[in-house]
Amino acid sequence: MPRLKYASVVRVLVILGLFCLWIQIMLSASNGGIYREAEELMNANETSEQVLALVPPELHKYLTVHPKNISANSTEKVGPKNVTDIRKAIEKYNDAQIIHNEDIFGPVQNDTIIIAVQVHTRLTYLRHLIVSLAQARDIDRTLLIFSHDYYDEEINNLVKSIDFTKVMQIFYPYSIQVHPHEFPGIDPKDCPRDAKFEQAIKLKCNNALHPDLHGHYREAKYTQTKHHWWWKANRIFNQLQSTAGHTGMVVFLEEDHYVAEDFIHMLHLLRATADRSCPQCEILSLGTYLKTYQYHVNGDKRKKQLTLSYIQQVKAANEERRRRQQETQTWNFQVYPNIYSNTQKVEITPWHSSMHNMGFAFNKTVWNDIMALQKQFCAYDDYNWDYSLLHLSQNRPNRDKFKVILCKGPRVFHIGECGFHHKKSNCNASTVISKVQKLLQNAKSYMYPTRVTATITAGGAKHNKKLVKGNGGWGDLRDQELCANMTKIGRQNRKYVFFT
Ligand SMILES: *[C@@H]1O[C@H](CO)[C@@H](O)[C@H](O)[C@H]1NC(C)=O
Ligand SMILES: *[C@@H]1O[C@H](CO)[C@@H](O)[C@H](O)[C@H]1NC(C)=O
Ligand SMILES: *[C@@H]1O[C@H](CO)[C@@H](O)[C@H](O)[C@H]1NC(C)=O
Ligand SMILES: *[C@@H]1O[C@H](CO)[C@@H](O)[C@H](O)[C@H]1NC(C)=O
Ligand SMILES: *[C@@H]1O[C@H](CO)[C@@H](O)[C@H](O)[C@H]1NC(C)=O
Ligand SMILES: *[C@@H]1O[C@H](CO)[C@@H](O)[C@H](O)[C@H]1NC(C)=O
Ligand SMILES: *[C@@H]1O[C@H](CO)[C@@H](O)[C@H](O)[C@H]1NC(C)=O
Ligand SMILES: *[C@@H]1O[C@H](CO)[C@@H](O)[C@H](O)[C@H]1NC(C)=O
Repeated sequence: MPRLKYASVVRVLVILGLFCLWIQIMLSASNGGIYREAEELMNANETSEQVLALVPPELHKYLTVHPKNISANSTEKVGPKNVTDIRKAIEKYNDAQIIHNEDIFGPVQNDTIIIAVQVHTRLTYLRHLIVSLAQARDIDRTLLIFSHDYYDEEINNLVKSIDFTKVMQIFYPYSIQVHPHEFPGIDPKDCPRDAKFEQAIKLKCNNALHPDLHGHYREAKYTQTKHHWWWKANRIFNQLQSTAGHTGMVVFLEEDHYVAEDFIHMLHLLRATADRSCPQCEILSLGTYLKTYQYHVNGDKRKKQLTLSYIQQVKAANEERRRRQQETQTWNFQVYPNIYSNTQKVEITPWHSSMHNMGFAFNKTVWNDIMALQKQFCAYDDYNWDYSLLHLSQNRPNRDKFKVILCKGPRVFHIGECGFHHKKSNCNASTVISKVQKLLQNAKSYMYPTRVTATITAGGAKHNKKLVKGNGGWGDLRDQELCANMTKIGRQNRKYVFFT
C-alpha cells in the first residue's frame, strides 16, 4: 500500500513541522520577554521644575532627554543594531582605552582619584549622578570611569558629553546583552531556576549537577552584577595601561547614587584621619544608608528577628525594607540635623557589606590583598558582590577583618530607591532627588569641615557574626570559573583603533 505509506509520512512531517514552529515561537516569546524585562532602558523625562530649579542652568544639558527620532527608520539609526555589531563596538572601545578630556585636564597621574561608576540601564538616575559630580569641588582632578554592562547610544552620548573632567568608558564584555542565548546569558539548555535536582538530571540540562545551596539553578540577570563588579575592579586595577603605577584611591559608585559637593574633600580628610588614628583602615566609606537609621526606631522588629538565623535576618530586613518603600515612600530625614554639625563625626569599625558598600574607596595595595584571596570571592555561593567581599574579609588568614573609616554625615546618597517601580504614581526619581537636594542645601554650612572626631566601635553583634552560608545564586561552576578567569588577564596597552 504505497499510497497509504506516503500519506502517513506526509502527516508525520506536517506534525513535526508544526511542532518545530511551535517550539520556535515559544522560545522566541520567552526569550523576548525576559530580554525586555531585564534590559529596558529607563530614560524618563520626569525631572520636576522643583528639582530643575536647584540645578545650575549650565548643567541642565545633562538632564535633557532628546526625543527619539521616530520618523527615521530603525535601519537608518546611527550606531550598532545587532549583537555582532555591539560586540565589535565593545571590543573597539576596550582596546582603545580612550580617556576623553585629557588634553584639557592633564594626564592621569599615579595619585589621581579614580571614580568608578557601574552603569546598567537606569539613565534617568545616571543623569542626576552626573549633575551631582559636576558640582563637586576638585572633580576636575579626577578620572571618571563608567563601566557599562549595557551598550546603548543614548547612554554613550550622555557620558561622552561630560566636559568637567577626564572620562573613560569601559564595557563589560560578558554581558547578557551580547550573549542573549548562551552563557553568561540565558542558554536554552540551562536548567530552569526551580527545577528539582532529580528533574534536572532527567532533563540533562547544562548545569543539572550544580544548583546553589538553596537548590535553585542559576539566573543570568542575578549573576551579572557580581560578575560586572569583579570584572570592573580587575579591569581598573590590573589591566588598564593608565593605571599601571596607580597608587591613589578608587571610589566605587553606582548609576543611582548622588554625591555631595564636598565628597572629594571628605575622602582626603578620611584618609588623613585614618593615617593618624587607624593606619590599618583599608576602606574609606562616604555613604550610609538612610534606612539603616529607620531600623533602630523599631525595636520590636529586631527583637522578633533575634530568633532567626543571620541569613534569614538579612532577608527579613530586605523584605521589610521593600515593603516599607512601597507603602510609604517617605524618607525619614529628621535624623539629619544631628548628623551634620560643627564637629563632624567619623567612625572606625569592621567593614560590613550591606552597611558600607555605598561610595567606598580603597587603593591598589588593598586590592592586592583581595586578589590574593580571590577564591574566597569567586567560589563563594552568593550572587552579591558585597557579601562575597565580606566573606573574603572574614576569612583572611592571620589577618583581621577589613576596617572601614566612614563619615556619619553621608556624602553619597542612594537615589534609586524606587527604580523599577518608577511607574507608580507616588514614587518618581524627582521626589527622592528633591529631598536629597534640600538636605544638602540645609547642610551647606557644614560642608568642607576642617577636622573630624573619630570614634572607634567594634560594630554590632550582627556585623561581627561570621557568615556561615551565602545567599546562594552562585552555585553554577561556570559562574565561578568565569569569575576566576577574569583575574588572569594582564595589563594591556592601548591599541590605536580607527573609529568610523
Ligand atoms: C522633555 O522635557 C523638555 C522640557 O520639559 C521638553 O522640551 C521635551 O520636549 C521633553 N521631551 C520628551 C521626549 O518628552
Ligand atoms: C530624523 O531622521 C530623519 C530621516 O533620517 C532626518 O532627516 C532628520 O534630520 C532626523 N532628525 C533628528 C532630530 O535627528
Ligand atoms: C521606512 O521603511 C519603509 C518600508 O520599510 C519605507 O516605505 C519608508 O519609505 C521608509 N521611511 C524612510 C523615512 O526612509
Ligand atoms: C549586523 O548588522 C550589520 C550591518 O550593520 C550586518 O552587516 C551584519 O550582517 C549583521 N549581522 C547579523 C548577524 O545579523
Ligand atoms: C607612576 O608609577 C610608575 C611605577 O611606579 C612609575 O614608573 C611612573 O614614573 C609613575 N608616574 C608618574 C607620573 O609619577
Ligand atoms: C593604600 O592604603 C593602605 C591603607 O589602607 C596604606 O597602608 C597603603 O600605604 C596605601 N598604599 C599606597 C600605595 O598608597
Ligand atoms: C514626580 O514628583 C514631583 C514632585 O513630587 C511632581 O512634581 C511630578 O509631577 C512627578 N512626576 C511624575 C511623572 O509623576
Ligand atoms: C575560562 O578560561 C578557560 C581557558 O581560557 C576556558 O577554557 C574556559 O572556557 C573559560 N571559562 C569560562 C566560564 O569562561
